Amino acid sequence: GGEIARNGTQAGVPACASCHGDAWGGNAEGGFPRLSGLAEGYLAHELDSFADGSRDNEIMGPIAQGLAPEERRALTVFYAGLRAPPPDGTPQPDDTASDRGRMLAQTGEWTKALPACAQCHGPAGQGVGAAFPPLAGQPAAYIAAQLSAWKAGTRRNDPLGLMKGIADRLSDDDATAVAAYYAAL
Ligand code: HEM
Ligand code: HEM
Repeated sequence: GGEIARNGTQAGVPACASCHGDAWGGNAEGGFPRLSGLAEGYLAHELDSFADGSRDNEIMGPIAQGLAPEERRALTVFYAGLRAPPPDGTPQPDDTASDRGRMLAQTGEWTKALPACAQCHGPAGQGVGAAFPPLAGQPAAYIAAQLSAWKAGTRRNDPLGLMKGIADRLSDDDATAVAAYYAAL
């Protein structure tokens, strides 16, 4: 797994680290998510989704399809085993966007039938088990892009079918605010 992550495969799959970085990883400017410390079951589900198109992404689709089942398995074990520092939970400076982001994340907005993100993604956005990925510390651009992908229907791989409805009820400003809140944790 580590070998493919650093160097790619002979069949032409590029090194994961070239986009996803290593160690704490991710790439805020590129909007590439961190993979280190994500749950094995979650990583496996995402690679399957890219490969079968239920998570439609032009970069990751061919990459996932280019990996043999045993290579995917080795990569999920590798990334799940990398240590990710826990989010420090430090709140952002108090500007309007972050207050709004914090409210959506921690309280939700029940008049719009929006549950608190924290209910599923954990009180500090650290993720819960294999089903609920962490949001804390993922690039803001990446979080916002996932919310748009659910709205647009290009990401339709949520096994619980919950994220589409949530994303549909978030305005663009709210999506930006909640993405900024989690990126800063
Ligand atoms: C997303 C794995 C290589 C660009 C992801 C995700 C996984 C993953 C599991 C989803 C993360 C999540 O849901 O939180 C891998 C592996 C790679 C690899 C195992 C190597 C074999 C690359 C490379 C690039 C790239 C080389 C850039 C050229 C992206 C992008 C996304 C992504 C743009 C977000 C896709 C979206 O918006 O849905 N990758 N990746 N990845 N990766 Fe990779
Ligand atoms: C995945 C955001 C609320 C269940 C995700 C992802 C994002 C996100 C960005 C993708 C993470 C990644 O690709 O690494 C949010 C926000 C919320 C919210 C901003 C509040 C406004 C919830 C709630 C639930 C939930 C309340 C449960 C009832 C899930 C599940 C996934 C997910 C199951 C994984 C889908 C998969 O397997 O690909 N969420 N979420 N989320 N979320 Fe949420």
